[in-house]
Amino acid sequence: MATRAKIYVAGHRGLVGSAIVRKLRAEGEDNLLLPARESLDLTSQAQVERFFELERPDQVYLAAAKVGGIHANNTYPAEFIRDNLVIQANVIHAAWRHGVKKLCFLGSSCIYPKLAPQPMTEDALLTGPLEPTNEWYAVAKIAGIKLCQAYRRQYGFDAISLMPTNLYGPGDNFDLQNSHVLPALIRRFHDAKQRGDAAVTIWGTGSPRREFLHVDDLADAAVFLMRSYSGEEIVNVGVGEDLSILDLARLVAGVVGFQGEILTDPDKPDGTPRKLLDVSRINGMGWRERIGLEAGLRSTYQWFLAHAGELREA
Ligand SMILES: NC(=O)c1ccc[n+]([C@@H]2O[C@H](COP(=O)([O-])OP(=O)(O)OC[C@H]3O[C@@H](n4cnc5c(N)ncnc54)[C@H](OP(=O)(O)O)[C@@H]3O)[C@@H](O)[C@H]2O)c1
Repeated sequence: MATRAKIYVAGHRGLVGSAIVRKLRAEGEDNLLLPARESLDLTSQAQVERFFELERPDQVYLAAAKVGGIHANNTYPAEFIRDNLVIQANVIHAAWRHGVKKLCFLGSSCIYPKLAPQPMTEDALLTGPLEPTNEWYAVAKIAGIKLCQAYRRQYGFDAISLMPTNLYGPGDNFDLQNSHVLPALIRRFHDAKQRGDAAVTIWGTGSPRREFLHVDDLADAAVFLMRSYSGEEIVNVGVGEDLSILDLARLVAGVVGFQGEILTDPDKPDGTPRKLLDVSRINGMGWRERIGLEAGLRSTYQWFLAHAGELREA
């Protein structure tokens, strides 16, 4: 049911932003603001102010961020903390100042404490030390959630924060150095199959357990919560089920059609031992995912094959 609201999707070319645009369009929303990156750098306070003053959106989905895996976080700590802090502060402040009625901020399951009890409930946030390999990103993201809560408390600004688990799907970053584990596995098994390699070695021991949500399900949840939820409490968005990285690698190998051996490399860092969200809050509101992991992997691999020539390289 279209609202005709003027909706700004920040980061509309990214994994999450492009899925939110697909979902909004499927719902009949055709008043979307999707400015080119070249004309709006969200780290520029002046550009962000000008954009909001001119366009005055009704709703904002803040899906623009500096995002990456363990390697990228370790290599670019300054960019991860600075860009994310500045983008959030600029967009949330300008949105409030220029009369935006509702804003959706995206946190992440990887900003919960490293050893949070599993499955992680929303109240685990800020109860213990972070995973050191991504603390730059995590500290910035936690500040984004706190910004939303502070603007709600002081100004009554209706900003909500979602905590998605690991996402995957069309438009993902398949770069081997800077991507997340699932797209990196698709790329590695695909390349190994093409070369006829006898084995693929995956990073770490393969024992950490992770949960994966198709990005179209996340977009569905974001639109659902923008319509039905208003509050300062964060909301986990996931499937509530996890699997080991080794089992994920086997699943990806099957989907890609790689028939060689899968080896582990215990010298590489594993990251958090387990990351599984407690999704009872969002399930209790009437939402749950629709896309199973194997079906989601198959369609993502089809997308990868169809876009092999135009994949992002950073
Ligand atoms: N991917 C996951 O597994 C995951 C899991 C949980 C939460 N999240 C959250 O979801 C959000 C989006 O993540 P994503 O995976 O969609 O990341 P992504 O694919 O890297 O997309 C990020 C988007 O932000 C834009 N952007 C970055 N810096 C910008 C700037 N200075 N000015 C304007 N635009 C800028 C990028 O623009 P360009 O296209 O021009 O580079 C890109 O479109 C993040 O807040 C992230 O924390 C993601």
